[in-house]
Amino acid sequence: MNTTARYLGLELRSPIIVGSCGLTADVDKMVQMEQAGAGAVVIKSVFEEQIIYDIKRNTSIVASDGNYGDSYEYIAAHVADDSLEKHFAMVREAKRRLTIPVIGSINCFSHESWLNYASKFQEAGCDAIELNMAILPYETTLSTDDVERTFTQIITALKRLITIPISIKVGTYFTDMAKQLQQLSWMGIQGITMFNKSVQVDVDTESETLKNASWLTPEGDIHNTLRWIALMSRKTRCDLSASTGVYTPDDVVKMLLVGANSVQVVSCLYKNGIDYLRQLNEGLQSWMTRKGYESISSFRGKLAVPPAEKASIAMRTQFMKYFAEIV
Ligand SMILES: Cc1cc2nc3c(=O)[nH]c(=O)nc-3n(C[C@H](O)[C@H](O)[C@H](O)COP(=O)(O)O)c2cc1C
Repeated sequence: MNTTARYLGLELRSPIIVGSCGLTADVDKMVQMEQAGAGAVVIKSVFEEQIIYDIKRNTSIVASDGNYGDSYEYIAAHVADDSLEKHFAMVREAKRRLTIPVIGSINCFSHESWLNYASKFQEAGCDAIELNMAILPYETTLSTDDVERTFTQIITALKRLITIPISIKVGTYFTDMAKQLQQLSWMGIQGITMFNKSVQVDVDTESETLKNASWLTPEGDIHNTLRWIALMSRKTRCDLSASTGVYTPDDVVKMLLVGANSVQVVSCLYKNGIDYLRQLNEGLQSWMTRKGYESISSFRGKLAVPPAEKASIAMRTQFMKYFAEIV
């Protein structure tokens, strides 16, 4: 049986890959992921804020002392390079010790940093880069056009600058999700990861303050991703990677059946440990054996909504089956 999958033009020995998270900031853990059967790893993102924080922490004395004049800029740039360099040293080590593809990940807010960090990831030897571009339209002044423009500007500039495959990790906050995902896929990128999970907000009723809810996705929370991969996998011109809520081999199979090219796991590894990847791969293989499938391509996309079918009708049919009991 052959479980190889193609994703972002890379050959993966398994479609199950580890998504960007704290576990992929440690090369020993990434080696363990490879040994447990991961098809690829997406490295913990470099966040632009993190670099700015390092600059502020390391230049506070210089900044408060007016005697340094112009050299402040120079020192800040040096600190930024040093801070990034630690990250790229980790990427280079991961590339040395792993045989599976290593995908870099960045999350920036300034145009220059998207370009700067992405080209450094390429230099460090990453096989591809995932841009964590889950834009949250929090501001009342931000329109759909603004969001679209941001995507277009960054992707166009990056396409000119780097040659490694690019995937875009998006969030779920689009008013015109289907249109946006299709247009993104037409921009010459190699993949879209659906979806990023933003920090969930909670309230501490004792201290009466806002706080973060658990970062981990609860088991069973796969349906939004399933819906959108099923709707979009045959209407997009790039690969789709399914992310959010994948816990069991059955979840992996579902994502592949609706058309995902790869399936990312994070929360289930935090809950069950890195070696749980073995169970996911074994479960996928035993399902394929039971169903008589020799390869991933022989069943991938079997349940994707055909491009000629109107998505609204496909979804309304499901709705009617449930509420009007029409079979
Ligand atoms: C502790 C933790 C750290 C994460 N850090 C990142 C990150 O640096 N960059 C990123 O793109 N996603 C990050 N994520 C989001 C995951 O990659 C993934 O999209 C999300 O957890 C949904 O997948 P899951 O349901 O399998 O956990 C993080 C998730 C967790 C739980």
